[in-house]
Amino acid sequence: MNALEEKMKQKDIDKFREDLITWFEREQRILPWRENQDPYRVWVSEVMLQQTRVDTVIPYFRRFVEQFPTVSALAEADEEKVLKAWEGLGYYSRVRNLQSAVKEVHERYGGVVPAGEKEFGGLKGVGPYTKGAVLSIAYNKPIPAVDGNVMRVMSRILSIWDDIAKPKTRTIFEQAVSAFISHEKPSEFNQGLMELGAIICTRNHRHACFAPYKSTVRHLRKGQSGSCPLKAKRKSLE
Ligand code: ADE
Repeated sequence: MNALEEKMKQKDIDKFREDLITWFEREQRILPWRENQDPYRVWVSEVMLQQTRVDTVIPYFRRFVEQFPTVSALAEADEEKVLKAWEGLGYYSRVRNLQSAVKEVHERYGGVVPAGEKEFGGLKGVGPYTKGAVLSIAYNKPIPAVDGNVMRVMSRILSIWDDIAKPKTRTIFEQAVSAFISHEKPSEFNQGLMELGAIICTRNHRHACFAPYKSTVRHLRKGQSGSCPLKAKRKSLE
């Protein structure tokens, strides 16, 4: 029995996966980047969402994809115009890296966002989170996409209380998500985890993580499953 199976039985993992997907399909917010699975749009949204709240991102996303609707449009755009479109979102290295990466996609891959982990993950600014998010949402690849929200959700489910500021802890969560992820619906599964962390299982709403799958994990709801994961140094959000 591996460490994960000690914490949760396979049949509970299966039930959790199904319940999460059903819940996501029913309850997901209508967001502009969910209108289709265009990998370029998904990529832009994930880069914007990395350090910025959903509400703030929505109007920027709409304007950005209207102005630069495709890989080639962004690849060929003046950097100044691109920076202008990003103005107010901050963290400008995000958009500089995005444009560099998009240029590479334009030149090397004929404008088609590569679906391979190595190829996409090798592009400028594409870290493990962005890689997993884009390849699962746009290309249905069963790859974990672990950000702060997902670590909070998984830590509460599995009672993992390692310091989430440490890179090694992310690996623990990536392994857990790899064991949980749906191979039929990896997009809905990963987005379900993100959505649960964003609207239900929030930092301040400690006991709501189990809403979509109450019956399955009731036995796990001992005092500590409602706690917050540990984080040695809390970085400010802005
Ligand atoms: N946060 C990060 N990625 C997200 C997504 N695709 N939808 C909603 N919130 C997110």
